[in-house]
Amino acid sequence: MKYCDRSAPRDWVDNAVRLIDADAQRSADTHLLRYPLPADWNVQLYLKDESTHITGSLKHRLARSLFLYSICNGWITEGTTVVEASSGSTAVSEAYFAKLLGLDFVAVMPVGTSQRKIALIEAQGGRCHFVSRPPDMYTEAARLAAESGGHYMDQFTHAERATDWRGNNNIADSIFTQLQLETHPVPEWIVMGAGTGGTSATIGRYIRYRRHATRLAVVDPENSAFYGGYETGDAGYQTGMPSHIEGIGRPRVEPSFVGQVVDRMIEVPDAASIAAMRYGGRVLGRRIGASTGTNLWGVFHLIGEMLARGRSGSVVTVLCDGGDRYADTYFDDDWVAAQGWDLTEPTAVIDEFHSTGIWNG
Ligand SMILES: Cc1ncc(COP(=O)(O)O)c(C=O)c1O
Repeated sequence: MKYCDRSAPRDWVDNAVRLIDADAQRSADTHLLRYPLPADWNVQLYLKDESTHITGSLKHRLARSLFLYSICNGWITEGTTVVEASSGSTAVSEAYFAKLLGLDFVAVMPVGTSQRKIALIEAQGGRCHFVSRPPDMYTEAARLAAESGGHYMDQFTHAERATDWRGNNNIADSIFTQLQLETHPVPEWIVMGAGTGGTSATIGRYIRYRRHATRLAVVDPENSAFYGGYETGDAGYQTGMPSHIEGIGRPRVEPSFVGQVVDRMIEVPDAASIAAMRYGGRVLGRRIGASTGTNLWGVFHLIGEMLARGRSGSVVTVLCDGGDRYADTYFDDDWVAAQGWDLTEPTAVIDEFHSTGIWNG
């Protein structure tokens, strides 16, 4: 008789899963904030505030899912060095979980990633490795992982499959539960940007699975390939250009982007994202990040459309991270001017929308 037995002690794996679950058990869910709009519009806007996770962004959910997925697949075990390609936020959250499990962590990121994100990764004991061309992040991360016998986490491939899209308190499940007692508990639209595309995939699948009438809109910044890939149906569509909105917009259509569950895509100019970030932050009384500004620009467009058609209802978007990480960039007037962005016109468009409900963006 022939057999091949690869069983090995599972103590480390058991304990790692327990530590991650215990961390979740100690954590509260994130708030669904109300964004004030004139009552006579009969349209409610909500922001799922993902900035309140321990690591400050929606990537806390993804990092937790990716670690569990990799551990349960047998890809990460005791002593594995974890390597990730990230524009910053994912690396901040993964560095947290690596530290929790006592693992070495290396983030491969583009030169120019905000100093604050670098400091956050290093504060968790993570190491930062820089590439000058953003598209080189993937191959460099794979190379470093192979060299060290480690594991390349590869969020851009695994984000959409690491999350349990049917429920289990994923972001969509949490949003719909929190809306239950609202005037319009089933939103007309949910609006989200795409970095990996994982969050939009989870929301789009969940909407279908739960048979909600809600539509999903994905907003995309300048230079990103997602919009072109969606419009042309070409999954190989590339711009090869870096996005200027940290966290969203990619030079290629990432494998985790599931365009089939997206009802509409909206292209958002960079200056419009920054104008909406600043405007929305003032309305909410807290600083929000640039990708949340991109979300709000798309939201205002859709609410303007609803009002023009005489429709009431609710709209939900995600407050992906707070603005403090970007004090030296998007909140710095000189830095913004140096990018060639003039916020005057988009700010006037947002202003007109808030006072009249008319969208001229
Ligand atoms: C600040 C921020 N907003 C939005 C996103 C997009 O999320 P997803 O990767 O799920 O598409 C990211 C992802 O990196 C991010 O860091």
